Amino acid sequence: MSTTPQGQPLVSMRGIVKRFGENVVLDGVDLDVFPGEVVVLIGPSGAGKSTLLRCINGLERISGGTIEVDGDQLSYQESAINKIRSRIGMVFQSFNLFPHMTVAQNITMAQRDVLGRSADDARRRAVELLDRVGLAEKADAYPDSLSGGQQQRVAIARALAMDPAVMLFDEPTSALDPELVGEVLHVMRELADEGMTMIVVTHEMRFARRAADRVVLMADKQIVEEGPPEQVLDHPTSERGQAFLRQLSEE
Ligand SMILES: Nc1ncnc2c1ncn2[C@@H]1O[C@H](COP(=O)(O)OP(=O)(O)OP(=O)(O)O)[C@@H](O)[C@H]1O
Ligand SMILES: [Mg+2]
Repeated sequence: MSTTPQGQPLVSMRGIVKRFGENVVLDGVDLDVFPGEVVVLIGPSGAGKSTLLRCINGLERISGGTIEVDGDQLSYQESAINKIRSRIGMVFQSFNLFPHMTVAQNITMAQRDVLGRSADDARRRAVELLDRVGLAEKADAYPDSLSGGQQQRVAIARALAMDPAVMLFDEPTSALDPELVGEVLHVMRELADEGMTMIVVTHEMRFARRAADRVVLMADKQIVEEGPPEQVLDHPTSERGQAFLRQLSEE
């Protein structure tokens, strides 16, 4: 885990408002994430966690406020958004691997198309990353032949292959059978230990306690608590935070 945040935030959000039609789903969210920090986002369903992540890489367009990634303000011209997206890796609940491509091809495609790497360089990087997520022997397998946990580790390797400055995870283990959750969290913990900047939406409170530098609790369109894991998870001060955590502990 990193120590006290230093320097410029890698991701800086100010006064983020997001509306879908008339429906306000983010209402004035401020959040800074510093290099090497691991921020775990928790909160009840519908709080706006996924929407916030999707706003960071421009998958959703904000209705108000500003987002900076590594000093560049997010705007929606194609070249600007592509530049910002190239620095952000995203891992979703569903792995979204291409079934007709091998694992290695899934990992090399964007390296070649977006970063212009040679086939050899891209393959080398893919193999290196597969080794890192414990799947060195699966380079030439097809996604269908892998378990959900293995597919999600491939998806993590695919995101890392772009050398992102920050990794966003939206409930990366929610679609997995319980016995496969641990292997994915293990890879994520290693990434965190290696100093990757991460924003992670998860219901895995053990991961939050062990890996997070900061837990951010969203409820009802806003951030209602943030701080070190023990503070937020064990001593929430807001009524909404207390209600959410009480409900969690009763599950
Ligand atoms: N594309 C969309 N169009 C309209 N409304 C949307 C859209 N995406 C999300 N919303 C609404 O925005 C609100 C926040 O949704 P979001 O998915 O961000 O919540 P969440 O905190 O990720 O919830 P969960 O824990 O269930 O994943 C919800 O009321 C949802 O219905
Ligand atoms: Mg969500």
